[in-house]
Amino acid sequence: MSSIDYIERIPNNVNLKDNRRLLRALEEWQPGFLEWWQQMGPEGFQTKDVYLRTAISVDAQGWAHFDWVRMPEYRWGIFLADPEPGRVVPFGDHKGQPAWQDVPGEYRGTLRRLIVTQGDTEPASVEQQRHLGRTCPSLYDLRNLFQVNVEEGRHLWAMVYLLQAYFGRDGREEAEALLQRRSGDRDKPRILGAFNERTPDWLSFFMFSFFTDRDGKYQLASLAESAFDPLSRTCRFMLTEEAHHMFVGEAGVQRIVQRSCELMRQGSADVRKQGAIDLETIQRYLNFHFSVSLDLFGSEVSTNAATFFTTSVKGRFEETKQPDDHQLKEATYPVPAVAGDRVVMRDEPALTALNERLREDYIADCQRGVDRWNRVIREHGIDVVLELPHRGFHRAIGLFGDYRVSPDGRIVTDAEWDAKKHEWLPTEADAEYVRSLMTPVVERGRFASWIAPPSRGINGQPVDFEYVRLV
Ligand SMILES: [Fe+2]
Ligand SMILES: [Fe+2]
Repeated sequence: MSSIDYIERIPNNVNLKDNRRLLRALEEWQPGFLEWWQQMGPEGFQTKDVYLRTAISVDAQGWAHFDWVRMPEYRWGIFLADPEPGRVVPFGDHKGQPAWQDVPGEYRGTLRRLIVTQGDTEPASVEQQRHLGRTCPSLYDLRNLFQVNVEEGRHLWAMVYLLQAYFGRDGREEAEALLQRRSGDRDKPRILGAFNERTPDWLSFFMFSFFTDRDGKYQLASLAESAFDPLSRTCRFMLTEEAHHMFVGEAGVQRIVQRSCELMRQGSADVRKQGAIDLETIQRYLNFHFSVSLDLFGSEVSTNAATFFTTSVKGRFEETKQPDDHQLKEATYPVPAVAGDRVVMRDEPALTALNERLREDYIADCQRGVDRWNRVIREHGIDVVLELPHRGFHRAIGLFGDYRVSPDGRIVTDAEWDAKKHEWLPTEADAEYVRSLMTPVVERGRFASWIAPPSRGINGQPVDFEYVRLV
């Protein structure tokens, strides 16, 4: 177990002080990062003390450290999971060979592109969430938002470390460009669609953390299988942070559902009258965030995905647990296709179907969370079930980008889509209503009308703890 050296200007567990060239490159990048954080990080609150958790070592217990920190002084740094002695490549053409400690020349471009694409999502989500602090439903939630934000900032550090340590001048240029693009910017947008959407309110934030951060989990988990060992170790540690982001999302939505159910059980027919969010609106937000997150996995049939796997650069989710040859040259896998007005399944070579396979792992994981939300509804004796829409619903990328698909998986006409879309996706009126609820609640132990308090606080602290010191 390696602990993290916080004496250095850039906290790390990779012996940065013995690599002067890399240290210098990162020190040159650091002021730009801090400038980006001040400009594009959380609006306001930068001088306030926040009760944040910081990693002090990279083992499971390394998270026990909580303290008051001003966000610009958060100790962003470079933390890799401990090396696995004798690790061998688990899949692809290089299966069984020793894991790579450096980047093979022929895979340089591919690896760089994967790292840049992952890296770009990290600052993007901070940018998307930057105004939310102004409308927090409680100090507890405000603190959770900032915890997610500083960790996404650290994930950017993680990817920049790889670029600067292993990709020479190209890597330095890419590290710079990661600070230049802006979420939603017309001229310099972030790379992936979902990361250019707005996160205008807290319902969207919780949905984003549940659905879109979970895409991050699946991408990181596949990269954690990579033959390129520094990438694998970096992603393995990031996954421990990602778990908290998904907790924030799942618990946030659950508390909103709970609040609405409590009001319904008390006999309220229209929970909006009591300043809560009705389950129909929650379903429409769910439909939106799930569908834009599905697009992040790419096309159903993809030669890129096949190449990533064959070259041992990006594996499957839990690659080592798959009971097959880990090369898939002869295997097939069913992927959706459209026949007439129906969605059918068709076998494709398993290698080109890897995006779809990862998307399916992701969908199953999302379903488990939705089941937990439904349990809350059931416990209140309410006869409503939240559902994930069909994977073809409201898609922009891949096969379904060319079709209109209803939440129950029918190919529909433009006319039916136009007539029904206000039932399926958040409307302007929904957005306006949700926005109208977004007034800040910052008194200790108080919560906005539309969300139930959590069942427990952070790190054993009470729910009414002063998680952010505003004075
Ligand atoms: Fe992240
Ligand atoms: Fe995240």
